[in-house]
Amino acid sequence: MSAKTYKIAVMGGDGTGPEVVAEGLKVLKAASKKFGFSYTETAFDFGGARYLRTGKTIDDKEIDELKKFDAIFLGAIGHPDVKPGILEQGILLKTRFGLDQYINLRPVKLYDSRFCPLKDKKPEDIDFVVVRENSEGLYKGMGEFQNKGKKDEVAIQISYNTRKGVERCLRYAFEFTRKRNRRKKLTLCGKTNVLTYAWDLWQRTFDELKKEYTDIETDYAHVDATTMWFVKNPEWFDVIVTDNMFGDIITDLGAMIQGGMGIAAGGNINPDGVSMFEPIGGSAPKYTGKHVINPLAAICAAGMMMETLGESKAAKAIENSVIKVASTKMKSLAAGKMGYSTEEVGDLVAENL
Ligand code: IPM
Ligand code: MN
Repeated sequence: MSAKTYKIAVMGGDGTGPEVVAEGLKVLKAASKKFGFSYTETAFDFGGARYLRTGKTIDDKEIDELKKFDAIFLGAIGHPDVKPGILEQGILLKTRFGLDQYINLRPVKLYDSRFCPLKDKKPEDIDFVVVRENSEGLYKGMGEFQNKGKKDEVAIQISYNTRKGVERCLRYAFEFTRKRNRRKKLTLCGKTNVLTYAWDLWQRTFDELKKEYTDIETDYAHVDATTMWFVKNPEWFDVIVTDNMFGDIITDLGAMIQGGMGIAAGGNINPDGVSMFEPIGGSAPKYTGKHVINPLAAICAAGMMMETLGESKAAKAIENSVIKVASTKMKSLAAGKMGYSTEEVGDLVAENL
């Protein structure tokens, strides 16, 4: 048993974010009693409501404040009354970049065949992890307009890839594949046939690093083909490493084949700093306050948080409880169709730990 008290920053955020975070915290509390760890919760109100009230997203001082925590538990950022981009850039991306959370770790795991939209796929067929680069690429926001608003306008959006950024992401992926120890296969997902600068750097760095990891089988797939294999042969994958934009796109498809946004969780990881864990489904404003949103993604995110903090037993127990509740009790993983309310699903997972 550990004697450490973890300091957890809680950012419920917008829409259904606070509701699912509450269930994640409920399960965390039950896990802490069972596995003997302790933690403090500190709430922050970053999000659309605060922005509409004060015009503030998140400032540098607040980012520095977050650096004092052991982990951040995030619900969702996104508000129907705020112009798209402001909160995403001003809160979510600013936190990822500000805390140098350079990995976005997104497990894709099917817990029960009933939840998979693909024919004849079983849990053992869909069990892979996407390691998404989380600090560079098209997300860097580099580019410009030329002749804005004119007939001959040009909009340039640059994919920015540094050797350092690519290498630290690839190294993380190799180490992760080794530690995961499932099939020990790492697939680089890119577009070497068209994006000949960025993916040349990725491919060269990958080829160099793989000489250090001779125990890992390596593979390459173009991003378009990757989406095809997700549907046709998801069992081919163990760990996939890719850039920020491709990772964003393929993990939405990944979420669908594992049962939807109600179950998909992710971690924004800084291996040497503060990491942030979130359900990847967004704020789902139309379900806000209706007690119908699925909290399992947030509960799984809390599990990933405990794994990263070193509470592996608690993390495993949370995952096993989620599997049990999802496969033996729930009718569906979709909002409003679970057969239980948001709070009841949280209770069930807590009771089955
Ligand atoms: C995600 C989201 C974000 C992203 C948006 C909200 C900025 O889609 O976490 O995948 O593109 O990274
Ligand atoms: Mn996304």
